[in-house]
This record gives sequence, structure tokens and C-alpha cells, in this order.
Amino acid sequence: MQQLFTPTSLLVTGGAGFIGSNFIHHFLAGNPGCRVVNLDILTYAGNLQNLTAVQDNPDYRFVKGDICDGPLVERLLTEEKIDAVVHFAAESHVDRSITGPEIFVRTNVLGTQTLLEASRLHSERMPSFRYLQISTDEVYGSLGPEGFFTEETPLAANSPYSASKAGADLLVRAYHETFQFPTLNTRCSNNYGPYHFPEKLIPLLIHNILQKRSLPVYGDGLNVRDWLHVRDHAAAVERVLKCGTPGSVFNIGGNNEWKNIDIVNLVCDLMDERLENPAGTSRKLITFVKDRKGHDRRYAIDASKLKRELGWEPSYTFERGIAETIDWYLANQGWVQEVTSGAYREYYQAQYGA
Ligand code: NAD
Ligand code: DAU
Repeated sequence: MQQLFTPTSLLVTGGAGFIGSNFIHHFLAGNPGCRVVNLDILTYAGNLQNLTAVQDNPDYRFVKGDICDGPLVERLLTEEKIDAVVHFAAESHVDRSITGPEIFVRTNVLGTQTLLEASRLHSERMPSFRYLQISTDEVYGSLGPEGFFTEETPLAANSPYSASKAGADLLVRAYHETFQFPTLNTRCSNNYGPYHFPEKLIPLLIHNILQKRSLPVYGDGLNVRDWLHVRDHAAAVERVLKCGTPGSVFNIGGNNEWKNIDIVNLVCDLMDERLENPAGTSRKLITFVKDRKGHDRRYAIDASKLKRELGWEPSYTFERGIAETIDWYLANQGWVQEVTSGAYREYYQAQYGA
């Protein structure tokens, strides 16, 4: 695997969110001397508490701002002599896109187009430049019981969230085809790990077990997701940025499919062990609830192109990753309280009561 590109000044968008913050920790640790500028508007999902360990690193700068603000993006690109953009910023929660799709189109589609246009114009003054769009397996739609999504699977998004991400991916493709702008596009499966916002399934389960609240399982609980540790995702993104050929799309996944109900039972049992509860205590909290509208049945990623062409493989087993994740949440209850105390609080109370 040949490294084609060495970034010197990176613009990371959405770096105060779950995956963006894990990526910044990973990248700063492995690339001393490379500047990392984090542009994030700090929605309910963006938390600077995710980044306290790097806030004094001289290579790191945080800028509070909107990816839809073209003049701000242009100024940062010039001022910081940015030679690579890694675009994580998004509205990311499927359930919220069903009740309020507009912000998803603004952030995920218009925000991406704003970044693409400013980056394209800026790149004309740079000897080498790369733009990496972080996307999701959800753009491919839903699978039946067999088969996998490959990079050639047609886009068939089913939720307003995934439609907005697919729209962004098509803009990325168009900027490469029309302007020969050097884009890369990754599409990853479900992530889990530290700093995962507790509205998403795994941290919500941990949080609700600790609160002795019900554990809502949508529909029959037999929907399948393909789980990857967030640090493996971060390593894959770095590999694609440095070694991928511009114009390429890479799927990222850990070949780790789980039915939702099996994940729920597993988290219940691991929590009971740690809390020294009698076996089966947490499973009693499981409550089957009305299904998510348009709920995709199964996701499964074929990441063989990434392995074959760039030599990337996940390093975490799920057994280790999920155990460490639960331990991280138990050791970081202060973080959970911080991130759930702001705008999220009303949403949570509306879902689960006071
Ligand atoms: P997240 O919701 O945890 O974080 C999103 C971040 O973007 C937040 O810090 C938020 O403040 C910021 N943001 C939102 N709107 C912004 C704006 N207008 N300007 C600047 N910043 C803004 O999301 P995540 O789970 O970390 O996902 C990151 C990216 O990875 C997204 O593009 C998502 O589609 C993609 N992805 C997520 C997963 C997953 O399992 N979570 C899997 C595959 C791909
Ligand atoms: O596949 C990648 C995607 O994974 C990312 O693009 C999204 O940004 C990310 O949020 C995630 O989407 P999901 O919808 O798969 O994640 P979520 O944690 O919301 O749900 C996981 C599964 O669990 C899904 O089948 C819905 C179900 N679920 C979720 C919640 C929050 C429940 O049964 N109960 C719940 O309370």
C-alpha cells in the first residue's frame, strides 16, 4: 500500500461529534506537526467535552461555526493553508429526520455543497489537495436476508437522513466528474464506542439501564445492523485520505452483523455483570415499541475493496469493543450528564418521561 498524500493542514468538520472527535484524537496522536482545524457549530450532538484531552495541543484549533457559512469556510481554508478537508459534520439521527427533515437537507446537502465549492476554488491555489466525504451505508437502502452492499450498489436511500446523505454523495461525485476536483468518499456501517451520543441504540441502552428506564426495541427487534468500533473507522478514514485514489468510493465495515434484539440482550447481560445484578434483571426492562417509519431491515457492508486496495482491516473484536465501551460509559458518567443536560434533555423527557 503506497501513501500518495501527506496532509499538512487538515480541516475537520463536525469534530465535536461522536466520530469526528474520535478521529481528531486518533489523527493528532499519529501525525504530530500536522495542523488540525475543527469547524463545528456545536448542535446538541457536538460537545467540546469530547476534546478536552487535545484542547491545549498546539497543532489543534477549534472554530465554532457553520459549514453553510461560505465566507467563513473560505477564510479558514485560506488562513490555515488547508490542504485536506475531512467532512464529518451532519445531522446524523434517523429518528429526528423523520420528525424534522428540513435541517437535514440544510446541513447535509447545502452544507456539503458549500464546503465543496469553497474547497474547489481554494484547491486551485494548492499544489496538492484532497476532500474526503464521510458517508454511510444507509445511502444504499435496505438488504434482504442475503447479500452485501458493495461500492457499486445503487443508491436507494429510504429515510430523510439517508436521502440527504445520498444527495451529498452525488454532489461529491458531480464535483469530481465536472471539475476533476480531488474527492474521496467513504461509506461506513454503524459505529459504536466512546463519545457516542446517548440517543443512539447502544449508549441509550446503557443510559436507560442505569436509570432503570425501559429499553425501547423498535418493531420485532429483528432488524440487522453491522457494527464497527469508531476507532477502526477513524483509522480507515486516515488510510483512505492518505492512500486512496481521488474519485474513489470505499465502503468501511467490520463484517459484524447483529440483530437488534441480540445486541439489546448482550448489553443487558454485560451491564448486569458489572452492576452485580441478579442475572436477567436488565432484560426485564426490554419493551417492544411501535416500529420506526420506513425502518431499514438489514445493513451489511462488503469492505473487501478497502482491504484489497489499501490494506485496512478492523483491529477490534466486537467482544473486546463492546466490553470496553460499556466500561467507558460507566467510568464517564460525568460526560453523559454534561451532554444530556442541554438541548437533549427535552427530547429525552418527551421520549421517556420525566
Ligand atoms: P454526530 O451527530 O455525533 O456529530 C455531528 C457533528 O456535526 C456535531 O458535532 C455537530 O455539532 C456538527 N454539526 C452539525 N451541523 C453542523 C453545521 N451546520 N456546521 C458545523 N458543524 C455541524 O454524528 P456522528 O455519528 O459523529 O457522524 C459523523 C458523520 O459520520 C456523519 O456525516 C454521519 O452521517 C457519518 N456516519 C455516522 C455513522 C454512525 O454510526 N454514527 C456511521 C456512518 C457514517
Ligand atoms: O448505518 C450507519 C448509520 O448508523 C449512520 O449513518 C447513522 O448516522 C447512525 O445514527 C446509525 O443509524 P441507525 O438508525 O442504524 O442507528 P440507531 O442507533 O438510531 O439505531 C440502531 C438500530 O436500533 C436501528 O435498527 C433502530 C433500532 N433502535 C434504535 C433506537 C434509538 C431501537 O430499536 N430502539 C431505539 O431506541
